[in-house]
Amino acid sequence: MDNVKSSPDNSLVAQVLIFAKAHFILVTFLAIVVRALYKRYASPLRDVPGPFLASCTRLWKVWSTYNGHTELDHIALHKKYGPIVRTSPNEVSFGTCNAAKDIFAVGKGFHKTMFYSVFPPKHAPDIFTEVREWKHAQMKRYAVTPYSLAQMQKRSGPIESMIMLLMEHLIKYADDSKRVCNLGNLLHYFAFDVLGEVAFSKSFGFLDAEVDIEGSIKNIDDVQWYDGIVGQIPETDILFRNNPLRPYLPFWKPEPTTMTKIAVAELEKRKKKDGTYDSTGIDLLAELLRAHDGSPDKFSVQDVFSIAHGAVFAGSDSTASTMQSFFYSVLNKPDVYAKLQREVDEAQKSGQLSEIVTYAEAQKLDYFQACLKETFRIRPAVGLGIYRNVPPEGIMIDGRYYPKGTEVAVNGWVLHRDKSIFGEDVDEFRPERWFEKDAKLMGGHLYNVSVTRSEVRQISEVANSK
Ligand code: HEM
Repeated sequence: MDNVKSSPDNSLVAQVLIFAKAHFILVTFLAIVVRALYKRYASPLRDVPGPFLASCTRLWKVWSTYNGHTELDHIALHKKYGPIVRTSPNEVSFGTCNAAKDIFAVGKGFHKTMFYSVFPPKHAPDIFTEVREWKHAQMKRYAVTPYSLAQMQKRSGPIESMIMLLMEHLIKYADDSKRVCNLGNLLHYFAFDVLGEVAFSKSFGFLDAEVDIEGSIKNIDDVQWYDGIVGQIPETDILFRNNPLRPYLPFWKPEPTTMTKIAVAELEKRKKKDGTYDSTGIDLLAELLRAHDGSPDKFSVQDVFSIAHGAVFAGSDSTASTMQSFFYSVLNKPDVYAKLQREVDEAQKSGQLSEIVTYAEAQKLDYFQACLKETFRIRPAVGLGIYRNVPPEGIMIDGRYYPKGTEVAVNGWVLHRDKSIFGEDVDEFRPERWFEKDAKLMGGHLYNVSVTRSEVRQISEVANSK
C-alpha cells in the first residue's frame, strides 16, 4: 500500500485531479480549447482555408443558420477564401460549378448526411429526409411515374381551378384601391393549396380564406427553422424535439399540423372494408397507392403516405419562394416588367395563349422563360448548403482528394454567382443574359433545376435497371 502511495505516477495523477477539482472551470475551458485545436489541426482538411472558428467547431454553422442568412455568409466566405472553404471541422463548401458537377454526377456515391435525418417525421422518412441510401433509392423508384411531368400534366384541371381562384382574389384587390394586397402571402397560400390538390385532391383552404389556417404554415416555418439549426449538429436532436421524455410531458406533446391531419384523413377515406386501399384517381396519393398494389412488400402504405405527405412539405415552400422571388425581381425592374408584359400581350393578341396558359404555351414565351431562369439563378429557393457525405473510400473533387468522413456542402446562391459560367454581372437580375451567353451551359448549371433534373434522370435509370 505504501508503495502505491509513493509511486511517482500515482502522485502525479492525484495532483492533477486535485488541481482539476480546484480549478474546474479553467480545466474545462482548457479541455474545450485543446479539443477545438485538435479538430482544427489534426484533420486532413487542415490546409483548406476558412474562418478559424469554423475549422474548430460546428457552432460556427449553427450561428450562421440561426442568423437566417447562410446564403449571404457563404457568398462572403467564397469571396474571401476562394472556391473551396472549410465550413466546419469536417465540412468543405465548394463554390464552383465544376465541383458541383462532380458531387452531383449520377453514380458518384455521395449520400445525404445526417442533416436530413432531423427533419420530421422521424419514424417515417420521405424521399427528402431518408438518409439510408438503399431505402432512398427504393422510394424514388416507385415515385418515378407519379412524379413524372406527364402525370403532373394530368392534374392540370385542379391546378387551373386554383389559378382561377388566385386571379379572383387579385382582381378583388385591383378593384378596391384601399385594400393592400400582400402578394407574398397570397402566393404562399396558393402554393400550399396547389400541392394539396396535387397530392390529395384536396386544397387546404388557405387561399380561399386568405388565412394561414391554424397557423399551419407558420408551424412549418418554425419546424424548418429548427431543422436547419439542429441539423448542423444532428446528434443534439435527441435533447430537443426527439427527446425520449417528450411523450410523457403534456405541455411538450407534438401536435400534427392541419396539413398532416388532412393527409391522414384522405388516406383513411380511401381505406376499403377489406383493409386494402382504393387506388383510383389522378392525385399523387392514388398513383403511389397503385405502385403499392404492384409491390406491397417493397413499397408499404406507410411509404405511400410519407412520400405524398412529404411532397407537400418539399414542394410548397420551394414553389412559393420561387414565385415570390419571380414577382419581387420583375416588379423591381420596370424595363423587365414592360418587356415581359409586351411579350405576353402580343402572344395573347395573336391567339397563342389559352385563358389559363398551358405548360406548352408558356415554354414558347422566351422572355418569360428567361425571367424564370434568372429567378432560379439569382435567388434559389434553398439558402442553406446541400449536404452530402463523400463515398466511404474517399474521392477526388476538382483535382483534390477528400477522405472518408468529409462532408461537402454546396450552396446554390454561391454556384449561381460563378462568373466563369454566368458572366461578370452575376449579382444583377438581368434576363437578357439568357439570350447573350451560352444559354445551354448556364442552364446546365442552374443548380436547383439541375438537381431536380439529375434526380429525375437518376430515378429513371434506377427504374429502367430493374
Ligand atoms: C420551384 C420549385 C422547386 C425548387 C426550386 C426545388 C428545389 C429543390 C432542391 C434544391 C432540392 C435538393 C435539396 C437537398 O438535397 O438538400 C429538392 C429536393 C426535392 N424536392 Fe424540390 N424543388 C421545387 C419543387 C418541388 C415540388 C413541387 C416537389 C413535389 C411535388 C418537390 C419535391 C422534392 C423532393 C421529394 C426532393 C428530395 C429529392 C431527393 O432527395 O432525392 N420539389 N428540391
